[in-house]
Amino acid sequence: MPDRMLFSPHRLGALMLPNRLVMAPLTRSRALNPELAPTPLMAEYYRQRASAGLIISEGVPISPQARGYAFTPGSYSPKQVAGWCQVTDAVHRAGGRIFMQLWHCGRIGHHSLRADASPPVGPSAQAAPTQTYGYDAATDAAFLAPCDPPRALTTTEVQAIVGDFAQAARNALAAGFDGVEIHGANGYLLDQFRCPFLNDRTDAYGGSREKRCRLLLEVSAAVSAAVGATRVGVRLSPLGTANGMQPEPEPFETYGYLARELGRLNLGYLHLYDQTTSWIHVPADPLLRQLRASFPGTLILCGGFTAERAEAALQAGSGDLIAFGKLYISNPDLVERFRGGFELAPYDTRTFYTGGATGYVDYPPFGA
Ligand SMILES: Cc1cc2nc3c(=O)[nH]c(=O)nc-3n(C[C@H](O)[C@H](O)[C@H](O)COP(=O)(O)O)c2cc1C
Repeated sequence: MPDRMLFSPHRLGALMLPNRLVMAPLTRSRALNPELAPTPLMAEYYRQRASAGLIISEGVPISPQARGYAFTPGSYSPKQVAGWCQVTDAVHRAGGRIFMQLWHCGRIGHHSLRADASPPVGPSAQAAPTQTYGYDAATDAAFLAPCDPPRALTTTEVQAIVGDFAQAARNALAAGFDGVEIHGANGYLLDQFRCPFLNDRTDAYGGSREKRCRLLLEVSAAVSAAVGATRVGVRLSPLGTANGMQPEPEPFETYGYLARELGRLNLGYLHLYDQTTSWIHVPADPLLRQLRASFPGTLILCGGFTAERAEAALQAGSGDLIAFGKLYISNPDLVERFRGGFELAPYDTRTFYTGGATGYVDYPPFGA
């Protein structure tokens, strides 16, 4: 067996990652305070996972308008920045590295999440056929509700969102993050703009492929200018159908175009999430090969990986880093467990989004 690549270092911009494991972005909805600021409990959760080569934070709304779920921590107020400082400090003290995932949920949302009860916004007024967690102020609790029909953004508002992403990125760096990941996946705003079935705009942000991809590319350029391109990654979910999306009808052309353009910006990494956990594991898959060839920077792969599948993908050269989602929820010491070949702890889906400390910071390291 050749040397195990999972435990070999990898350079990402100015950072030297000690291993190839990435903690995938995981929304945990633990910001249980009116400011939606990160808490000491969150700092402890991320600290426990600091042996990952890189941690990518949960999705972090870049503005009040960007919110789509109750209790997700933001990156747009001084209290939130102060809260994140505790998180980055805890991770760095434990020897880790952490990026913030910058998130605009677009049409996924509910009016109860905003002080002025305004509906979510999107590229068009097409409603998402899915549910989200609204917020009931009377009981200070979340409740499951159908997403409200969105309001179509004006051109000026779209341009303002580019600025919101850049400001949230500056706030992330001010809070001590090592970089940021732009959430361009999973049927949220930037993915919604890309989608030819959803985006019926006639302005500069709709119509041709170039125009539909323009918002993501403008955001990527603005965030790079704000914090430095090597500190920026972009997450995409090619062929994804989560959140009421239809698969991209021209994946080679559209994702190929995006990968090339993001490469031109010299971004630190491209992060591919295969929601079907299928093609990403096939080294000969034509889309995977094309995206690998089109993007010159670091490539992160995610979706259904185990230690064995991760090692196989790395050995085949399909990607440079492998992100693990659900396994990181219940195995804070995933690096050590993989290294030692130890048993993995099962995760409890009931506490993914609720439960305070339960199912959050109470998964012990192996043998403890
Ligand atoms: C509880 C939970 C929360 C998630 N939150 C996010 C998120 O905030 N941002 C994102 O891009 N993906 C999110 N995902 C997707 C994960 O990052 C990852 O892509 C997915 O879990 C597949 O990887 P896995 O098979 O290793 O679990 C979430 C997944 C889960 C299970």
